[in-house]
Amino acid sequence: MTGRTPFTHEGIAFGCDYNPEQWAPEVWDEDIRLMREAGVDLVAVNIFGWSHLQPGPDAFDFAALDDILERLHAAGIRVNLGTGTASAPAWLSRAHPEVLPMTEDGTRRYPGGRQAWCPSSPIFRTASLRLVEAVAARYGSHPAVALWHVSNELGCHNALCYCDESAAAFRIWLRERYGSVAELNRAWGTAFWSQSYYDWEEILPPRAALSARNPGQLLDFHRFSSDAVFAQYRAEADVLRRLSDRPVTTNFMVTAHIENMDYWTWADEMDVVANDHYLDHRLGDPLSELAFAADLSRGLAQGAPWILMEHSTGAVNWQPLNLAKEPGQLLRNSLTHVARGADGVCFFQWRASLQGAEKFHSAMLPHAGTDSAVWREVVELGGILDRLGEVAGSRVLADAAVVFSWEAWWATDTECRPSQAVGYLTQVHAAYAALHAQGLTVDIVRPGADLSAYRVVVVPGLHLLRADEADVLTDWVAAGGTAVVTYYSGIVDENDRVWAGGYTGPLRDALGIHVEEFAPVAPGVAIALDDGTRSHLWSERLRATTAETVATFADGPAAGSPAITRNAHGRGSAWYLATQLEPAALADRIGAIAREAGVRPPVDVDAPGAFEVVRRRGADASYVFVVNHGDTDLVADVRGTELITGPAVEDRLRVPSGAVRVVREENHS
Ligand code: GAL
Repeated sequence: MTGRTPFTHEGIAFGCDYNPEQWAPEVWDEDIRLMREAGVDLVAVNIFGWSHLQPGPDAFDFAALDDILERLHAAGIRVNLGTGTASAPAWLSRAHPEVLPMTEDGTRRYPGGRQAWCPSSPIFRTASLRLVEAVAARYGSHPAVALWHVSNELGCHNALCYCDESAAAFRIWLRERYGSVAELNRAWGTAFWSQSYYDWEEILPPRAALSARNPGQLLDFHRFSSDAVFAQYRAEADVLRRLSDRPVTTNFMVTAHIENMDYWTWADEMDVVANDHYLDHRLGDPLSELAFAADLSRGLAQGAPWILMEHSTGAVNWQPLNLAKEPGQLLRNSLTHVARGADGVCFFQWRASLQGAEKFHSAMLPHAGTDSAVWREVVELGGILDRLGEVAGSRVLADAAVVFSWEAWWATDTECRPSQAVGYLTQVHAAYAALHAQGLTVDIVRPGADLSAYRVVVVPGLHLLRADEADVLTDWVAAGGTAVVTYYSGIVDENDRVWAGGYTGPLRDALGIHVEEFAPVAPGVAIALDDGTRSHLWSERLRATTAETVATFADGPAAGSPAITRNAHGRGSAWYLATQLEPAALADRIGAIAREAGVRPPVDVDAPGAFEVVRRRGADASYVFVVNHGDTDLVADVRGTELITGPAVEDRLRVPSGAVRVVREENHS
């Protein structure tokens, strides 16, 4: 068997990670009975199965997994089958300590946690593929198996490995990219600090050094590392596609703080895009970040439905303070993902563990058992997803976009930069939050993507920008688009070489400005603009060439210099924000720009508090999701049939505080 198979499922999938190996078989029957009670129909098993399936190098034991698959199948529950390779058994690293990953200071990490393997280790590759072969041969045609789940959150802990195997693989990767050492020297700018190389063998991963390291080397090591982890996915997927006709995916981590995988380069090889998302309460606006992650997951799926492979019913266990979800939040968070294109809602995990590092992580079936608010909400969610089945397959349409790039993230958050307080993701989240606060639907696209579907495109802090990517944006503006570019964009090319002649480099003409100098601002200090707004972190000394100055810095290190400009370019216009506006001012500014460009929320909502409104469009009907995060009821201008509570909405839709409503609109044009 070869080739790709799409993932299909009747309605919206509802599921979880299930780790029966942590429980006696007597518990399995109860698990499956309760899964059916909740409406669970897609269950991930064997995610951390390796040490159970293979007790020693030459011994396999599939009895328990056979049993579980049979039981799930008999109950009509489909299986999302892990290849089991995420965490290697202790016998492997005992026999071959060199499979263990190494940190940048040369320290080997021990086993005892999870994912303790070097992505470039040939020994790990061989051993893990042997397991995948065995699993795929045994279950590749099993009627329960609906989907293959390669490894687990590839690169979560081990993406950056600095061992000698990684060094050798890095050199091979560099040879393919540059062809010659001379070309590599040019790309990395090794003339600086006497770093010139003459032989490939001299080149190492960017291990801990006494001073700042070469930024080009750091950037390429990120690229290499993403590719090295992805190579494990591809190797496992090749085996699966050879031995099975079922679709293949792995769970991405489009979530705050995980930066090492460039999923734009991975996504095409997923038969369905799957994402894990956990609310991060260390962020200023976790709900906006949830929406961003969901929209980015849809972007990776190129607009097609995707699966939320993991999230939590309540608290996680890995933040400094792990907040329980409020009543109703499990439903709101789950349905926000569905609103933004998910056709599956799954949780980590089914039954809360009694032992192990995650025993205080929430689950669908909590330690308290079924006599709990969490369980009741889980059952309620199962019922709601069932009623929303007809939504599956429909698509979100957006006329605004935000450009997002993992490469820009790596290049921005490097060692020596104008201000350590300016981070890429913070800027992206701030720009997204400004659109989100207006209830606007946003696609997340990669640099260089076709922008013709959009009226407004926001480009937050796109530090690394290639000439051809800048051309796409410039041409789209000339053709009538409205771009909003924020500070620290267009600073370096793909080799981290500064675009000389005024910052924003290849965007200068579209923006009509000449940026002479950065003037960062100390964290916590506010600066004033002459339009009465305030901003933080950053200012610039710049001059408008063809742009009109919309607001000027009234104080701070760039006082007198334009802070907000707008340039007419061809039939469109390009705005530049040279500072980090306070959130409300940024939302007002971006909201006004979007409105002027004709971008509106999908329906009008009268809401005093936070809300989300998204339309998914299907072949025969459209579905408007309204999520009310506020303390008071809201009213939305939508008519049709409400799918969660049932009644026809003839006038306007009332959504109680904390509730979600989904309205089917017939024949929406
Ligand atoms: C994910 C992981 C799960 C579990 C969960 C806890 O990173 O895939 O196995 O650890 O987080 O939040």
